[in-house]
Amino acid sequence: MSNVKAAITAVGGYVPEFRLTNAVLEQMVDTTDEWITTRTGIKERRLLKEEGAGTSTLGIRAIEDMVANFKVDVKDIDLVICSTATPDMPVASTAAYIATKIGATNAFSYDLMAACSGFLYGLSTGAKFIQSGQYKKVLIVGADKMSSIINYEDRATCVIFGDGAGCVLLEPNEEGYGLQDEVLRSNGEGRQFLKIDAGGSILPASEETVRLNQHYVHQEGQQVFKFAVTNMADVSAQILERNHLTGDDVDWLVPHQANLRIINATANRMGLDEEKVMLNIQRYGNTTNGTLPLLLWDYLDQLKKGDKLVFAAFGGGFTWGALYLTWAIDPKK
Ligand SMILES: CC(C)(COP(=O)(O)OP(=O)(O)OC[C@H]1O[C@@H](n2cnc3c(N)ncnc32)[C@H](O)[C@@H]1OP(=O)(O)O)[C@@H](O)C(=O)NCCC(=O)NCCS
Repeated sequence: MSNVKAAITAVGGYVPEFRLTNAVLEQMVDTTDEWITTRTGIKERRLLKEEGAGTSTLGIRAIEDMVANFKVDVKDIDLVICSTATPDMPVASTAAYIATKIGATNAFSYDLMAACSGFLYGLSTGAKFIQSGQYKKVLIVGADKMSSIINYEDRATCVIFGDGAGCVLLEPNEEGYGLQDEVLRSNGEGRQFLKIDAGGSILPASEETVRLNQHYVHQEGQQVFKFAVTNMADVSAQILERNHLTGDDVDWLVPHQANLRIINATANRMGLDEEKVMLNIQRYGNTTNGTLPLLLWDYLDQLKKGDKLVFAAFGGGFTWGALYLTWAIDPKK
């Protein structure tokens, strides 16, 4: 590999207008604002309500936001990766549709599925294309319309998830900024705890699967919590150690937004002050592949060139990981 690193050079984001608040959820299922707030940290989430709109709609709008704020010629993009757990359709590539619709006509494109770790894996994958020297501009889109797979009668899941998308452009950097290191993991035994049973190759869709609500997300929250809290903290601590960093050296933790308690446990393990932890879970809930790029989008004005960022995620599969990156963009004027 060359000394060229893959740096983030542009960021975009989009969340739908519609807000589903805890107060409204209290009318829909047997829950309370107090339970949701203390157990998860979430106050409201955004839902895409437009007829005929899917995950690609979210992704396209995030890219349009990026193009409006950064100098990006979409014709120069070589590759579009869409990290998603809710593709527009089970077979056709959502990334291909997104690429064509934004005018990235010189790009090839594909989807990447690693549940809530998808964007993290996407960053890693995209960086390898850049470091190979063969590709110069790789767009990673993290997008999910979680409302399309959530049962709004199941209080164990409907309070957690929301819709949203974010994107970043990766480009070569020879000054040392960009992706520095990563620890990525998976364990397939975990799929029993967080899954959609039907609609795949094991249990294709049928009248019965619909009747039994098997096309919705099923989560055994406590089990997932146990794995998430240990594993996300472990890889985050590992990436610090490997790079001879302490919590004082890190400028920002960019953690997957599934549960505030998991985020706090990870930050504590890293010895990180509260103000260095990016958070938007209270406003968007868990947007799955959207959480990490939406954090960058929300905190863009506070990021400085050279800042040291640690990304951490945990998701269905199980999949998890941590990634260390130095920021390459000057603050917005
Ligand atoms: C989902 C999660 C918030 C639930 O919190 P928890 O503290 O583990 O709660 P439990 O699932 O143990 O449930 C505790 C009680 O609250 C109840 N409960 C569940 N959802 C509820 C809700 N929305 N409102 C009120 N009560 C609820 C349960 O039925 C249970 O009741 P019981 O004790 O009478 O059986 C938490 O487990 C979690 O965040 N898990 C990990 C999610 C995650 O990281 N996912 C990874 C990638 S997406």
